[in-house]
Amino acid sequence: MKKLVITGGAGFIGSNLVRLALERLPQMEIVNFDALTYAGNLENLAGLESHPRYRFVKGDVASPEDVAKAFEGDVAGVLHLAAESHVDRSIQDASAFVRTNVVGTQVLLDAARRKGVAKFVHVSTDEVYGSLGATGKFIEETPLAANSPYSASKAGSDLLARAAHHTHGMPVCITRCSNNYGPYQFPEKLLPLVISNALENKPIPVYGDGRNVRDWLYVQDHCEALLRVYEAGKPGEVYNIGGNNELENLYLVKQVLSLLGKPESLITFVKDRPGHDRRYAIDASKIRQDLGWEPAHRFEQALPKTIEWYRNHEAWWRHVKSGEYRDYYERQYGKRS
Ligand code: NAD
Ligand code: DAU
Repeated sequence: MKKLVITGGAGFIGSNLVRLALERLPQMEIVNFDALTYAGNLENLAGLESHPRYRFVKGDVASPEDVAKAFEGDVAGVLHLAAESHVDRSIQDASAFVRTNVVGTQVLLDAARRKGVAKFVHVSTDEVYGSLGATGKFIEETPLAANSPYSASKAGSDLLARAAHHTHGMPVCITRCSNNYGPYQFPEKLLPLVISNALENKPIPVYGDGRNVRDWLYVQDHCEALLRVYEAGKPGEVYNIGGNNELENLYLVKQVLSLLGKPESLITFVKDRPGHDRRYAIDASKIRQDLGWEPAHRFEQALPKTIEWYRNHEAWWRHVKSGEYRDYYERQYGKRS
């Protein structure tokens, strides 16, 4: 059976994608290749352990030996999501970002080239474009102008993916998506942090004046777009993915509090993130016109649905916040290395 390797499948977007890929691609084995860093949580995939077409391979994208294990057999394609993904952590220490995002992407590209895979989708981010002023949107031709160590490392990997196509003719597509929200997001990121802190009646840290703008997309819509690019994307092309749903942070936080019936007095303004990008907005007309993708979820329904999910999965986020989630691997697979 042909295999699709999804890297970072134990993370937020990756775990949603693994589930969707198993449903949408019934002829494929889905290999989840993940190092299980602090952000990797096999509880996100609970119930799939005995699925006949799902396989988990623990390993590091920056290790050629580990990557070789993931690439055993008939690998038809790669969806590369594994990354260090949190801007604030990259400001504290960028070293893991350079290793995983830059070095890891090159190791993976080299292995995929040797294997002759038919499609390699590199999951980049809208943050590689830098920050917008009050107007305008990012298009695929917007010059890269990354501002944080995180986005700089993603821009490095994005360009390495581009070079693999340009130099070696590899069938690479690059996607650049806006902010995702939905189930299984690690509660260091704004939305799950706000929801879980509000449920615990804890203060909600808002950076700076809270007027920064992000373009929010429901995670399932991102995953549908990635599968669309995997199946129909033209090699060498970049596709922006976005929700056409720009919101100021403070507005978003107030919406969550109102939906949860919690007081706005929980909001605590804190020191701004250094180098904080002011505004992101995506023009997603290319993927709509060329591949027929559009978000299926509206924010007005998907935000309450997401809040409900966190309400109903209190054990999940409490395990993450307490660190207990790290025992899940040992219970399922024995001791971590
Ligand atoms: P996440 O932090 O939730 O998950 C990352 C996963 O990668 C984890 O399971 C982690 O264990 C794994 N990983 C980290 N280092 C690894 C390594 N060296 N080898 C193998 N696996 C490793 O991230 P996410 O939010 O799900 O984002 C996934 C991808 O999508 C990233 O590439 C990110 O840059 C990109 N992206 C995210 C968003 C967003 O809003 N979250 C938007 C656009 C693009
Ligand atoms: O745009 C895509 C990117 O979105 C992805 O590439 C990143 O992997 C992902 O983490 C996300 O980056 P952001 O920095 O936009 O997401 P974060 O959830 O960290 O922050 C969202 C906004 O909320 C941002 O303006 C900073 C602000 N914020 C964040 C946190 C964690 C706060 O005001 N308070 C907080 O406690």
